[in-house]
Amino acid sequence: MQDTCEAVRLLGKRIGFVPTMGYLHEGHAALIRRARQECDCVVVSVFVNPAQFAPTEDFSRYPRSLDHDMHVADEAGCDYFFTPESPEMYPEHFSTYVQVENLSSVLEGTFRPTHFKGVTTVVAMLLLIVHPQKAYFGQKDAQQSIVIQQMVRDLHFATQIVVVPTVRETDGLAKSSRNIYLSQRERADAVVLFQALCKAEEMIASGERTSQKIVGAMTQMVTSKPNVAIDYISVVDALTLDLLETLKPGMQVLIPLAVRFGATRLIDNTRVTVPLHS
Ligand code: PAF
Repeated sequence: MQDTCEAVRLLGKRIGFVPTMGYLHEGHAALIRRARQECDCVVVSVFVNPAQFAPTEDFSRYPRSLDHDMHVADEAGCDYFFTPESPEMYPEHFSTYVQVENLSSVLEGTFRPTHFKGVTTVVAMLLLIVHPQKAYFGQKDAQQSIVIQQMVRDLHFATQIVVVPTVRETDGLAKSSRNIYLSQRERADAVVLFQALCKAEEMIASGERTSQKIVGAMTQMVTSKPNVAIDYISVVDALTLDLLETLKPGMQVLIPLAVRFGATRLIDNTRVTVPLHS
């Protein structure tokens, strides 16, 4: 892949890169389509990265479907499909990791302490292999995008990170490869996440500025469903991920959440600019 990308670059073409873990859905297709619009050549990788799963997580049962992925990627405008194998990415004696401090240890990092180290390590490797002008990530994984943007700045990668809006099912549930784990009942209940995020947006629009009240209202909605466990619902600064107690006019606020429905853990978020006048 390195040689192919080098040849593409020598032709003066701009490479757009969409790294994925496969089981592609409309959310991935939106990233690929955006890359297609903005670049001359689109590379999509599929690699289920073992380094970002803790031993207790779903690495071995993570859904895989390469033929389907090739079809989705192709339809959305992919030129090169890159499917490295684990020994290629993590050969024997592999011992170099990339870790973004602070941003990686809050929110998701509290519950998945090694997760972002795995993400940044593999994304750094992929960026070094592909050398894209632009790389595309989904807003659904808001913290991931923020961590990767920090890594790219800190390590002087010549890649622009583009964050693409979350694609949702018609009822509002964010598209995710993990949605297939949900039972019928859990799938119906999971829409409460989107409803809770909308509630937070409404509260801010109508003048609420106390995070605790916003989180309280969201928590009440989510816990009205059976069999749910909230890992976090937070109100944070959208750039630093610092917890916010009171919202100030003009602030960029991120409201991320992680909730387990039975054995399935879903994440979602909304980004809000606090109105200047309430
Ligand atoms: O968002 C994902 O699918 C993964 O975390 C990524 C960025 C492809 C790294 O493995």
